Parts: sequence; structure tokens; C-alpha cells
Amino acid sequence: EWTDFERATIQEIFSKIDSGVVGPAALSRCLIVYPWTQRYFGSFGNLYNAAAITSNPKVAAHGKVVIGGLEQAVKNMDDIKTTYKDLSVLHSDKLRVDPDNFNLLADCLTIVVASQMGQAFTPDVQAAFQKFLAVVVASLRKQYH
Ligand code: HEM
Repeated sequence: EWTDFERATIQEIFSKIDSGVVGPAALSRCLIVYPWTQRYFGSFGNLYNAAAITSNPKVAAHGKVVIGGLEQAVKNMDDIKTTYKDLSVLHSDKLRVDPDNFNLLADCLTIVVASQMGQAFTPDVQAAFQKFLAVVVASLRKQYH
């Protein structure tokens, strides 16, 4: 289901990005642009405004964790659904995250990756990255019932 170009592109993106920069930037952006998503992070302390969100160490740490989750998908591109089984159960049964939020975070991540890659983020790269994120989101949704 993946072309050679798609595989190479996804692997290259994740080999290049700094998870400690891109993860926190994407999660912060999501929490700022879609403040509704803050409801799931009640234990993260001060999310009062954009400055508080971007300087919150728990947000930064968790942004990095999210990229770590995506790296698991990159390593298992042919079976993301199985790879994400437990993560999907966690987000549905335990965290009760409305799965529509996965798309919001995915879009924030796309914006951050695009702004970091500049001209290297061509239409073909964008298509490959969005396809990867669509499979990630579908896999996270899998255990919802
Ligand atoms: C926890 C990945 C989207 C809310 C986690 C963990 C990972 C992860 C790897 C840690 C699991 C563990 O500790 O075993 C992802 C990925 C996402 C995604 C790859 C989509 C690209 C979201 C969204 C929300 C969310 C959109 C809410 C708006 C949470 C919360 C936790 C969590 C509240 C627990 C945080 C804590 O207390 O430390 N996620 N997640 N996730 N996720 Fe997600």
C-alpha cells in the first residue's frame, strides 16, 4: 500500500526532524488554536494562555512522546493498526479523547513540519505525509466502539 517514494519520504522526514522541537511545537499549536483540546490535559498545570502553553514543560515532554509514538508507526509502516492497538485502547477507553481531535493534532503537525522543511515540502512530500498521518489517525480510531 506504500510506494517506494512514500516510504523513503516518511523515513526521511522522521530522520531529519528534532522530536524535541517539532513535537512540542505541534502540541502547543493544537492547544492554542483548538483550546477545547486542553480539556484532556488537566494534569499539565498552567495552560492559561499561549505563553504559558509554549513554556509548559509537561506540554514539551508530551509533544516529544507523541513523536515517539509516530516513530513506532514509521518503524512498522506495513502494520500500523496492530502497532497502535494499545495506544488506540488507551485514547478511547482510558483517556476518552474524542477521535476528531486526532485530525486537529495531525494538521498542526503538518504545519510545523512544512514550516521546518521549507521548499523541500513539495506537493508530493505533502501528499505522502498526509497519507501517513491519515493511516495513523485511522489506526488510533480503530479500537473506538
Ligand atoms: C498519551 C500518542 C493524539 C491526548 C499519549 C501517549 C502517546 C500518544 C505515545 C503516551 C502513551 C503511554 O504513556 O503509554 C498520540 C499520537 C496522537 C495522539 C501519535 C496523534 C497523532 C492525541 C490527542 C489528544 C491526546 C489529539 C487530545 C486532544 C493524550 C493524553 C495522554 C496521551 C491526555 C496522556 C498524557 C499524560 O497524562 O501523560 N498519546 N496521541 N492524544 N494522549 Fe495522545
